[in-house]
Amino acid sequence: MNIILCGCNGKMGQSIVKNISNFENFNIVFGVDKNTNINNNFPVLDNLNKINNTDKNIDVLIDFSNPSNLDNILDYCLSTKIPAVICTTGFTDTQINKIKKASEDIPIFYSQNMSLGVNLLINLAKKAAEFLGSDFDIEIIEKHHNNKIDSPSGTAYMIANEINQNNKYNYVFDRTQKKSKREKNEIGIHSVRAGSLCGEHEIIFAGPNESISITHSAQSRDIFALGALKAAKFIINQKPGFYNINNLY
Ligand SMILES: NC(=O)c1ccc[n+]([C@@H]2O[C@H](COP(=O)([O-])OP(=O)(O)OC[C@H]3O[C@@H](n4cnc5c(N)ncnc54)[C@H](O)[C@@H]3O)[C@@H](O)[C@H]2O)c1
Repeated sequence: MNIILCGCNGKMGQSIVKNISNFENFNIVFGVDKNTNINNNFPVLDNLNKINNTDKNIDVLIDFSNPSNLDNILDYCLSTKIPAVICTTGFTDTQINKIKKASEDIPIFYSQNMSLGVNLLINLAKKAAEFLGSDFDIEIIEKHHNNKIDSPSGTAYMIANEINQNNKYNYVFDRTQKKSKREKNEIGIHSVRAGSLCGEHEIIFAGPNESISITHSAQSRDIFALGALKAAKFIINQKPGFYNINNLY
């Protein structure tokens, strides 16, 4: 399988490079990164537009770069009909709608968290919220390394959105300006940025005289890289459509 890797010289890109040998016949044929200063065993271009793919049979594009790269990726994949695994986080709603629109013509896998454990965490959180009902306040705390650009994390949004299927909750990110009690229909979402933390998500359900918390800790970026490579294997055989982590595990 021939892969284009966007963001190849970032932390996640390099984790893909490290893990790709676990997947038989997977090859990175082009890397794309604004920073071309790392030596890889494949050519790296600073812009996707510079790839001339007539000499390579490209099967899939994997993206761990930045939201600013999305238009390039969608233009490229739509014009070449190459499926995409989009793992970047921090897109606006307009950008997410663009991804969904593109998925009418090509298969696109999009997930803000590629790990198996987080997928389970989200399902458990959804069940807990249904089971515990409105007497329990819900707060999400996410912790990441000090280089993370977007906050709260895409995963915190995934957890909140899954709990909030009926749109009954408002998300509250900052209580410093609020001089009133917490509302019942709030989900508080809080971000910690420190050191080299790979990613931790805790969901607290606090009710009258008891509380429960569910936590997932990523101990290595490799879990996301392996998930993205599994998603790549999955997406090349799919019809055009919008796929996510629930289609994988
Ligand atoms: N879905 C997941 O499971 C998951 C897991 C971890 C990280 N992420 C997300 O993946 C993205 C990358 O994470 P990271 O930790 O590797 O970040 P990083 O900053 O280490 O790497 C990003 C790389 O993208 C490059 N880049 C930035 N803008 C670009 C552009 N317009 N064109 C080409 N290259 C560009 C940068 O030079 C850098 O090398 C982030 O959005 C992060 O939140 C997702």
